[in-house]
Amino acid sequence: MAVSWSGAKMGESVLDFCSGSGDLAFLLSEKVGSNGKVIGLDFLKEQLSVASSRQKLKSKACYLNIEWVEGDATDLPFSDRHFDAITIGYGLRNVVDKYKAMEEMFRVLKAGSRVSIRDFNKSTNPVVSAVQELMIDNLVVPVASGFGLEDDYKYLKSSVRAFLTEQGQVAA
Ligand SMILES: C[S@@+](CC[C@H](N)C(=O)[O-])C[C@H]1O[C@@H](n2cnc3c(N)ncnc32)[C@H](O)[C@@H]1O
Repeated sequence: MAVSWSGAKMGESVLDFCSGSGDLAFLLSEKVGSNGKVIGLDFLKEQLSVASSRQKLKSKACYLNIEWVEGDATDLPFSDRHFDAITIGYGLRNVVDKYKAMEEMFRVLKAGSRVSIRDFNKSTNPVVSAVQELMIDNLVVPVASGFGLEDDYKYLKSSVRAFLTEQGQVAA
């Protein structure tokens, strides 16, 4: 999949796929402004509840443009050609049926719209892979541990290794 991003624009309608606790959705909300719309979608109610609580603590008017929707990335509850852009941050790796999720992304995007996928890279270069794994082991996991989130991050190394090479998934 070709992925490009020239930024969300004022007034646009944007979907943040696998939104989790909403970090990207909050950034997007500032980009599209009060006349735009951001949907933060996740299939875990608990994550959306954290996102919603964070939204209530924020004061800028633009944050009112975010709506949290509980739904599955492989069966989106939106009509065809609905969004101007989609973002997905560290989420696609976690979706079991990535092909179906990407089909759904394209179904709900308007013609000429944009997708931004941010994730760890499954590099074919062994040096790049080794550096990334060193960073996960020596930076990401220790920092997460400091916030009591070790269990949420220590699966990353095996998850990145499996990403895009699992049987039936996209070839790297
Ligand atoms: C690592 S979190 C990423 C959260 C957020 N995008 C961020 O950057 O902080 C991955 C999220 O993907 C969600 N997820 C995984 N599979 C999903 C699916 N099939 N449909 C909807 N959400 C899914 C999980 O519930 C989790 O909240």
